[in-house]
Amino acid sequence: MNTDASSVEISGQLNSEERRIITAAVLEAEQKPKVILEVGTWLGGGSTLHLLRALEQNGVGHLWGIEADRSIYDEMLKNIRTAAPEALHRFTPLFGFSQRIIPQWLAKQGPQFKIDFAFLDGGNNPSEQILEFGLIDPRLPVGGILMAHDAKLRKGKWLVPYLSRLDNWESQLHDVSAEGLFSAKKIAPHPSASSFRSARLHLLRMRFQPAEVAAALLPAKVCKFVLGLMPEKLRRHVGEGR
Ligand SMILES: C[S@@+](CC[C@H](N)C(=O)[O-])C[C@H]1O[C@@H](n2cnc3c(N)ncnc32)[C@H](O)[C@@H]1O
Repeated sequence: MNTDASSVEISGQLNSEERRIITAAVLEAEQKPKVILEVGTWLGGGSTLHLLRALEQNGVGHLWGIEADRSIYDEMLKNIRTAAPEALHRFTPLFGFSQRIIPQWLAKQGPQFKIDFAFLDGGNNPSEQILEFGLIDPRLPVGGILMAHDAKLRKGKWLVPYLSRLDNWESQLHDVSAEGLFSAKKIAPHPSASSFRSARLHLLRMRFQPAEVAAALLPAKVCKFVLGLMPEKLRRHVGEGR
């Protein structure tokens, strides 16, 4: 029986090409990332495990992984302990919603703290990745990397066009899955005024799409109830953008 932790399979998302891309982004970064923030670990076998193993291979860096669902969080902890015991010293799990956890976490790190690499893969509401980006952008230095999953789905529907319009980011969509993996590198501290205006204007238009206005105004329970009445295919289309 093979008891080598590196061969242990644990549940995770991202296909093999996406896992290869995020691993390579950490291994081949111009400056080895010291700080990685991840939103949405799920069960740990996708982004969390692969980012962590890449950091361990680099021999430097730490991953903070946020997860909002308690039972998933507990399971993820067990999984990571089994699959990457050698890299556990590089991992700090954070339980809760990114919107609340990121500001608390940053406040504890102090004003000079920088995030070298962020991976956003939390909830399906497109406002979440935008909000997370707004919270971490001031801490991402020039050269910093931002990756986001579900770039072709509802989750990335606002962040991808927003960031693509900012001329202080060089961005790329890896069209290697039905979900899509977005990757961007900060190339200047601030966008030009015209690119910032264009990005904000586009975001405003996206925010006023009827389905998103309804999702923003209706209580979560009502949205869940309405989605529950829909056939599976339509529910996934409306809820996830599939
Ligand atoms: C698509 S899964 C993440 C998959 C994971 N990155 C992987 O590669 O296997 C999304 C996860 O984000 C969590 N989540 C949703 N909204 C969140 C938020 N605002 N903050 C933190 N976690 C969130 C969900 O509970 C779920 O486990």
